[in-house]
Amino acid sequence: MSKTNQTNSVVKWVDDRLPVFTFMQHELHEYPTPKNLNYFWNFGSLAGIVLVTMIVTGIVLSMHYTPHVDYAFDSVERIMRDVNHGWLIRYVHMNGASAFFIIVFIHIFRGLYYGSYKAPRELLWMLGVLILLLMMATAFLGYVLPWGQMSFWGATVITNLFSAIPLIGEPIVTWLWGGFSVDNATLNRFFSLHFLLPFVIVGVVVLHIVALHTHGSNNPVGIDTTGNDDQIPFHPYYTVKDLFGLGVFLVLFSLFVFYAPNYLGHPDNYIPADPLQTPPHIVPEWYFLPFYAILRSITFDIWFLDAKLLGVIAMFASIGLLFILPWLDRSPVRSARFRPIYRQFYWVLVIDCFILGIVGANSPDDPVFSGLDGFQFIHLGMMSTAYYFFHFLILLPLLSVIEKPDPLPASINEPILGGGGNAALAPGKPMEKP
Ligand code: HEM
Repeated sequence: MSKTNQTNSVVKWVDDRLPVFTFMQHELHEYPTPKNLNYFWNFGSLAGIVLVTMIVTGIVLSMHYTPHVDYAFDSVERIMRDVNHGWLIRYVHMNGASAFFIIVFIHIFRGLYYGSYKAPRELLWMLGVLILLLMMATAFLGYVLPWGQMSFWGATVITNLFSAIPLIGEPIVTWLWGGFSVDNATLNRFFSLHFLLPFVIVGVVVLHIVALHTHGSNNPVGIDTTGNDDQIPFHPYYTVKDLFGLGVFLVLFSLFVFYAPNYLGHPDNYIPADPLQTPPHIVPEWYFLPFYAILRSITFDIWFLDAKLLGVIAMFASIGLLFILPWLDRSPVRSARFRPIYRQFYWVLVIDCFILGIVGANSPDDPVFSGLDGFQFIHLGMMSTAYYFFHFLILLPLLSVIEKPDPLPASINEPILGGGGNAALAPGKPMEKP
């Protein structure tokens, strides 16, 4: 490893003993990156920045929050009214959770489109799926802390799902609750775990980045770029591009924090938790809606497995199957740009996930279209759940065999400079004198 080219004597002294500057120069400065990355490659670094923001705001919130059923709700109200800038810190944390999921969902769908989960990035992808699971657990635990009506009833519904497991289900639920109902012991352990898990996420993100830097980024064309002139140093090209993306994100994020801070939340969570009063509709936060729809879409028993258990299995399977995605899609071509059939079905999947979200937000027995009473959200939910599993478990393995991909370019430069273009005029190359 070459040493840092910094001339500052203090930097050199430190670097000789602990090569942090050399490390940063390699991984953030010289790091060879494909030259054609588009804005979808901004979302990884954006996710990292939001993760740090969530941890910082979360630590400040925890200085003022009281994890006790008698005080939790009021302590949050106190943060909002009496703590200096408490309202801002809480709104950044609340809306930060939504932003985090939007960013990570885009990051995942980018990976699906450009085949970033394929060899040699399978472990990078699997670590990502693990991060997603940890994020979901953290968000669920955090939502319980304000101890509003949705906190309490959301926690009750979701923890109760484990009771569907035969024989050991009930004892598991009692163990999770730390008693015989969602109560103070539950709130305490949820707070403790909500504090812990983000640091576990940081650990997995470090592994994610190590795996990324082992083979480098994939790119929109999806071909390997190592060892040719398709790469540029990360700095300044992508540091600047990432900073620009961050600026755009901050503008949009500020609009929510300052002008519509409760837009994505549920008003019932401003009602203190009441174990004797069930809210008319218990709905999870928006980012859980597609999974909630899958959970509710199984309404029939199969053999000795009852509908509730099958729903729980289907919900976990919908994320679990992402772990084996690199082995379900065996097509040698990564990017959807060169996969004419996959490209179409990719968009069907995107629409399907949106529909699942809409289904999750509605009552199962409400009609989808007014005047068409026979077609209810439960039916739409069943159809879209079926498509979700069909897409991953049947379509992708099938397309790997039957689809004829378009020819791949030999390099990133080739489509731009190959066919009659003037290589001398390529960006980054000095123009020849006439
Ligand atoms: C805390 C959450 C996450 C953070 C901070 C994070 C961070 C990053 C960063 C910085 C990159 C490089 C920049 C980029 O390609 O956008 C990256 C790449 C990648 N991430 Fe994540 N990630 C997160 C979650 C996920 C999840 C949930 C998945 C998938 C389920 C995932 C899959 C990938 C893949 C496949 C790549 C390589 C993309 C490519 O080279 O084309 N990541 N991640």
